[in-house]
Amino acid sequence: MGVVASAPAKVILFGEHFVVYGEPAIVIAIDKRAYAKTEIRNDKRLYLRSVNLNLAGYFESGVFKIEQGNVKEAKLKFEPLKQAVEKILEKYGENVGLDIEINSTVPVAAGLGSSAAVVSAVTASVGALLNVKVSKEDVFRITYEAEKIVHGTPSGIDPAISTFGGTLLFQMDTGFKPLDVRMDIPLIIGDTGVERSTRVQVEKVRDMHEKYPRVVEPIMLAAREIVLKAMEALKENSLETLGDLMNVNHALLYGLGVSDESLEWLINAARKAGALGAKLTGAGGGGCMIALTKNEGVSEVLEAIQSAGGRPFIAKKTDEGVKIE
Ligand code: MEV
Repeated sequence: MGVVASAPAKVILFGEHFVVYGEPAIVIAIDKRAYAKTEIRNDKRLYLRSVNLNLAGYFESGVFKIEQGNVKEAKLKFEPLKQAVEKILEKYGENVGLDIEINSTVPVAAGLGSSAAVVSAVTASVGALLNVKVSKEDVFRITYEAEKIVHGTPSGIDPAISTFGGTLLFQMDTGFKPLDVRMDIPLIIGDTGVERSTRVQVEKVRDMHEKYPRVVEPIMLAAREIVLKAMEALKENSLETLGDLMNVNHALLYGLGVSDESLEWLINAARKAGALGAKLTGAGGGGCMIALTKNEGVSEVLEAIQSAGGRPFIAKKTDEGVKIE
């Protein structure tokens, strides 16, 4: 008998990258989830299998053995999971063998927080199987530590949203605050299909910041003002203002070099088809964009993204963070 846990993907509405420098960001959990099923094994192996990535292998006495797929890719994906599982085993006080099967509906390396969602789901399912008390704060902290292996210097926004769900105003030094967003934002996501590394995109911004601090600092300030204004717009249900702010936010990110041709195609197509605003979401450099439109304009924008070579879908916000199924 296994225990299944799940955690949601996310879209950052405003403030990605700037959030790494202590600025606020607004993030929404969406109705795409990663699932992890954990069972006890008779031996001491930690066996991991990702159904969607076609990867499988196990750790035994610290050594990794591949069973399916590319060994380098498997190590890259499984190492953070191993670290998270070890934290739970420490709490449990005994080393037991585990079989973990991951099944995710979240596009990978696309800016939707797939890696954090997987780690959160794995952490919760192992904790529940072993009857170890794991609070949401524990899941957040363990996922954050694992994300550092994947992304270098993450802000913690992805682990926060995959753990707590809902809509969050996130800031590194002050933590996060749930936002009560009543308005039903029709969020259109366009996946460029171009996989990229968050670490590389974050380094690009760091380089720009180091080279041109007096140029980049005012950009950071503008990003903060965008988030503050967006909070008001969310309260007032002002889609037009949110659209304008998305466009400006994208321009700032573009200026820092984290957009790319594939994103620009989709963003321009969405705007031409009537979107009130469009921007990259997550780290950029490929991955996904989001577009905001009035309900009556949704099908035009979906079609435009598709014709421009993207994979469009509609995302709904979800309040459910990590949970046992
Ligand atoms: C990644 O989803 C968002 C970035 O701001 C990195 C981070 O905050 O860790 C690009």
